[in-house]
Amino acid sequence: MDPKDLEAEIHPLKNEDGKLQENLGSQLKKEENLKGTPQQSRLSRCRTAAFFLSLFICLLVVFVISFIVPCPDRLALQGAWRINYNTAVTYDFLATKDINRDKVQDVLFLYKNSSSSNNFNQSCADEGFASPCSFVAAVSGANGSILWERPAAQDGGLVLCDVAQPRDSGAAPACILVGRAGSFIAVNSSTGETLWRQPSSFGRNTSILSPLLQVPDLDADGAPDLLVLTQEEKEVSSYLYSGSTGHQIGHRDSLSVDKTSDFLLYVTRAGAHYILLSCASSLCGRSVKDIYEKVTRRQSPLRRDPSWEDMLNATKHGLFLHSPGAISHLMNVPGNGGDDLLLVGSEACMLLDGQELAPRWTFGVAHVLRKPTLGHYKPDTLAVVIENGTGVDRQILLLDLSTGAVLWSQALPGLPGHPPSASLPTADHRSAFFFWGLHELVDANQMEPRDSQHSLYMFHPTLPSVLLELANVSTNIVAFQVALFEPGRHAAYILLTGPDSADAPGLVSMAKHKVQDLILSSRVVRLTEGVTDSDQAIRDRLSRLRYRSET
Ligand SMILES: *[C@@H]1O[C@H](CO)[C@@H](O)[C@H](O)[C@H]1NC(C)=O
Ligand SMILES: *[C@@H]1O[C@H](CO)[C@@H](O)[C@H](O)[C@H]1NC(C)=O
Ligand SMILES: *[C@@H]1O[C@H](CO)[C@@H](O)[C@H](O)[C@H]1NC(C)=O
Ligand SMILES: *[C@@H]1O[C@H](CO)[C@@H](O)[C@H](O)[C@H]1NC(C)=O
Ligand SMILES: *[C@@H]1O[C@H](CO)[C@@H](O)[C@H](O)[C@H]1NC(C)=O
Ligand SMILES: *[C@@H]1O[C@H](CO)[C@@H](O)[C@H](O)[C@H]1NC(C)=O
Ligand SMILES: *[C@@H]1O[C@H](CO)[C@@H](O)[C@H](O)[C@H]1NC(C)=O
Ligand SMILES: *[C@@H]1O[C@H](CO)[C@@H](O)[C@H](O)[C@H]1NC(C)=O
Repeated sequence: MDPKDLEAEIHPLKNEDGKLQENLGSQLKKEENLKGTPQQSRLSRCRTAAFFLSLFICLLVVFVISFIVPCPDRLALQGAWRINYNTAVTYDFLATKDINRDKVQDVLFLYKNSSSSNNFNQSCADEGFASPCSFVAAVSGANGSILWERPAAQDGGLVLCDVAQPRDSGAAPACILVGRAGSFIAVNSSTGETLWRQPSSFGRNTSILSPLLQVPDLDADGAPDLLVLTQEEKEVSSYLYSGSTGHQIGHRDSLSVDKTSDFLLYVTRAGAHYILLSCASSLCGRSVKDIYEKVTRRQSPLRRDPSWEDMLNATKHGLFLHSPGAISHLMNVPGNGGDDLLLVGSEACMLLDGQELAPRWTFGVAHVLRKPTLGHYKPDTLAVVIENGTGVDRQILLLDLSTGAVLWSQALPGLPGHPPSASLPTADHRSAFFFWGLHELVDANQMEPRDSQHSLYMFHPTLPSVLLELANVSTNIVAFQVALFEPGRHAAYILLTGPDSADAPGLVSMAKHKVQDLILSSRVVRLTEGVTDSDQAIRDRLSRLRYRSET
């Protein structure tokens, strides 16, 4: 060591020039080395070793995760699968939820047969039904293996899943199955085990109206309850059931309505719950509080909305008198500060303000048969998909939900029996839309409705003059749904096909197809001239779409 440095170390403060600052680090280190005891130097060696060891472990972990450990989910997730039941009947019900907790959506559906499939030894008699009966099946969305199956009802029925159970029981949400011929069963959706079972109290000529409604807790057991509407001769009635035991709450109540084509549960801005029904050419309503207090003669903590009560009192259950013809469909749609109401009538579609029930816009269309679907055409702006007409005259219209202006329209021949349209949000804050239509333009008089080929088309607003024909299906479609099976790209459609009559059992088939795979083999349909991209470029672009979940 040269003497100058030594001197600087002994009298560090005497060193005046800027060199001190520069060399301070190295000098201090040397000082430590010179003066440090053997113990300290061992400590520092330990520290160095620990540093390199942890660095090595970090690198190893990064290396293992990125190269050696395969992505197990991706490998196990099949793009397409199909399961068949040879002599069965199926119903218009499909639901997706993650049943086996593998973070991939699974599928629930109903079929009717004398026994369940071979690996599930269950017969109709096990649940007290005559054979054949309806089974509910849960299928793994990842590979189509059956997770559980069980007899559910005598002949079809309605299913409501995600019914929360009392908080203190700690149980997961259940699925409730209401059979058309009087059975009321709640099952554990992850195992299919019975949670409770009650006979239903419906009369012989009663039909249960779809959907089942979940209402806030009425019997104070900490779980939401159920409201079931039924049609009996010329009367619509309501029944209340406990969501955690299936016991009926109070007795039947008539809603003073002959018949209804659609109904829903509506929560006003003031937080009051109302049942709204289409009744002839007006909208009828009753508060859930009112129904409960009438059938039990007890007070309910639920609310009434004073302004709605005034409207109800003024018109004796009818809320709305200037209706767009006979109302066929009612829909809750998101509005400012709460839901608004979309009415589809025989002459027009109308958006009503959710509080005042005053029309926000009216769109005159002649012939809307199907319930509209919502989606995003412009980023973050809701649009409503309306199908006007049927057969060769069918037209798909996308309307801006806030103004009723037409955003896009396209003639797409289709049959009344086709499944409704669907949409799925994409990562660019728009939606991909899915429409069913006839494959070729055929003369409506010549087509044999059941034999003709149906095609599934996909549309994305970033390519407004292109439709992709994703698939051709020539069997009878009973139910259809598009869902995001796994966050990101794994959007798929599920299709339930089967005999069109419950009296003639046949092949029932449940299939899943990944949208991205279908896009790559799709047929590009150009709606206008002037799209210069090649078919392959269009497919590539749409197959790169990412999807997001609804919430
Ligand atoms: C359905 O019922 C038929 C007889 O009616 C039987 O052969 C078949 O194994 C049953 N199960 C399935 C899964 O098709
Ligand atoms: C199926 O269940 C019945 C009783 O429910 C039983 O007698 C029979 O042995 C079971 N068969 C199989 C293959 O498990
Ligand atoms: C299907 O996936 C499930 C997990 O989701 C797995 O337990 C099962 O073994 C798989 N079955 C087949 C036939 O690959
Ligand atoms: C359903 O079964 C699973 C597994 O056995 C259990 O963890 C869960 O709590 C059950 N859910 C209900 C609602 O009982
Ligand atoms: C059911 O309806 C039919 C006619 O639609 C009638 O003859 C029969 O008496 C009704 N049964 C009951 C139990 O009301
Ligand atoms: C509605 O009318 C009934 C009597 O028919 C009355 O008891 C009730 O207070 C009225 N409600 C409102 C909000 O005016
Ligand atoms: C709806 O279809 C009918 C024919 O079915 C047609 O007369 C009417 O103009 C269409 N409405 C719109 C808005 O295109
Ligand atoms: C549907 O069928 C037609 C012929 O009938 C064929 O041209 C078209 O490519 C098919 N579409 C798909 C997606 O396979």
